[in-house]
Amino acid sequence: MILIGPPGAGKGTQAPAIKERYNVCHLATGDMLRQQVAEKTPLGIEAKKIIDAGGLVGDDIMVGMIKDQLENNKECQLGFILDGFPRTIPQAEKLDSVLSSRKEKLDHALELKVADQLLISRITGRLIHPASGRTYHKEFNPPKKPMTDDVTGEPLIQRSDDNVDTLRKRLGAFHNQTGPVVDYYKKQNIWTGIDAAQSPKVVWSNILKALESNLKPGS
Ligand code: AP5
Repeated sequence: MILIGPPGAGKGTQAPAIKERYNVCHLATGDMLRQQVAEKTPLGIEAKKIIDAGGLVGDDIMVGMIKDQLENNKECQLGFILDGFPRTIPQAEKLDSVLSSRKEKLDHALELKVADQLLISRITGRLIHPASGRTYHKEFNPPKKPMTDDVTGEPLIQRSDDNVDTLRKRLGAFHNQTGPVVDYYKKQNIWTGIDAAQSPKVVWSNILKALESNLKPGS
């Protein structure tokens, strides 16, 4: 399945629960790129400039990353959640050809829908534990001790692209380049829209309904 949504929609918040319930892998292209940035690889050094400018990294690089994971990550044997991928029509088309050569197909494309104005506070308040990817929010989901991971006691950080200026550019990229991807999956009849402006619990229960419904997706 794929999870589509603007920055701050809750993709990274909801995906771990889906992963746990269905025993599938969670492939988040943003996390993979941030790993490259942290390791200061040539790709990471280039990607950091694009990420901080709110742009999109090249399609072939992103498709290559996902293909590699699908082929080599043992956690993906029972299925996968793609979080933040595909983000462009060429990525969606190339994913279809990778999957068809593996005799696999997408069952669901869930779109987490939230109005732009709600996303500013979600993004500017977000805190991350870099090693695990655990996400908190200063106001909506605070850690027990300020700026400290509940599990490891290690420090939390803010992402360098989580500021108002970069967010506006990320939202522009989402509407212009990822908007058509939503239509692509509507035509394939696997799209379901989820109201992601509600509390994380309500969003989770609506995701479950969508995944477990025998009815044709689409709402
Ligand atoms: P990526 O890491 O994918 O960022 P994004 O899509 O902008 O999404 P976010 O991680 O910001 O949001 P999220 O939906 O996961 O929100 P979260 O659950 O954390 O990509 C980063 C960059 O990498 C891109 O800009 C691009 O440059 C590059 N890139 C990545 N993939 C690419 C691709 N395929 N092609 C090209 N380039 C690519 O929630 C946000 C906050 O809100 C949290 O603090 C959370 O606690 C809180 N929250 C969550 N749900 C709720 C709720 N229901 N109510 C209240 N608060 C909530």
